[in-house]
Parts: sequence; C-alpha cells; structure tokens
Amino acid sequence: MHYYEVDDIAMLPEDEQNLVELAREMCDKAYAPYSAFYVGAAVLLENGEIIKGSNQENGAYPSGLCAERVAAFAASAMFPNVPMKKIAISARSNRMQVEGPVSPCGACRQVLMEYESSQGSPMKIILSKEDGKIYIISKVEDLLPLSFSGNGLKRKKQT
Ligand code: THU
Repeated sequence: MHYYEVDDIAMLPEDEQNLVELAREMCDKAYAPYSAFYVGAAVLLENGEIIKGSNQENGAYPSGLCAERVAAFAASAMFPNVPMKKIAISARSNRMQVEGPVSPCGACRQVLMEYESSQGSPMKIILSKEDGKIYIISKVEDLLPLSFSGNGLKRKKQT
C-alpha cells in the first residue's frame, strides 16, 4: 500500500491543512451517543466547495452511517458529477484512546472507490486524529486494490 506520513499538520500544503482542521472540527458535530467515537470528514470538490460530514448513529445500530459516507453522499447529492479531489478524515474519543490516524472502513472505501473511478481522477485521502502524525494516500484505489465494480456486471444474452 502506497502512503506517506507527516509528523505535523504544518507540513501539509495550506488547502490540506484547512481540510484537516475542518475534519477535526466536524468531530464535535458527530452524533455518536453509542460508541462515543467522534469522526469528522471534509471533502474538497474540484469547484472549490468543501462539504463536511460527521458520523451519525442510531439506536437501531446498523442504521447509522460513517462520517466519510455522510460527507461523500452529501457532496454527490449537492454537486453531482463534480469531482471530489481530496477528503480529510479525523477522529477523537473521550472514552477510548485513539492510537493513530483513523482509516476508513471497508464500506466507505467501496463508496469512495466508485466516486473515484466514475470521475476518472484521483481522490486524495488525508487521515488524522486530534493531533500528531497524518497519513496521506494519493488515491482511493490504493486503499482498495482489486475492488468490486458494477462495471464488471454484464447482462447475459437472452436466448
Ligand atoms: N466510523 C466512522 O464514522 N468512520 C470510520 O472510518 C470508522 C468508524 C464511525 C461509525 C460509528 O459511528 C463509530 O465510528 C464507531 O465505529
């Protein structure tokens, strides 16, 4: 897996510093009364818009949604077909020790992967927690090699 890490947010270009700060701020807006694990995400679109999200839980547990998907779905809903250039993700918890930068779950990788392949340009992923080191992955494909794609499904010929 190709990724690189920086020790401090100050080592990132300005637009990425801003995106990480926004993702960190969004942790405070999470609705996570069950896990007390607060995740924030911020997506930078090609048109300059920034769409933010936080994880949203529910008493019927599987009904909740991760911050990454809340942000990416909102971005696609508001700006369909505008490429997502970068996504920053961060997490904090007051119940648990967050060991390192938070990395998206499999379902979120799948969702981000489809947006990346349909837009035909890479979506950079910037992973962090409240402070400390930051991981940078240059495209979603690096997080999900050999991914499933609906493009591989072809209708069988009628006999
Ligand atoms: N969560 C996210 O929002 N993003 C991730 O990358 C990992 C997990 C959320 C889902 C749930 O609300 C809580 O964190 C605990 O898993």
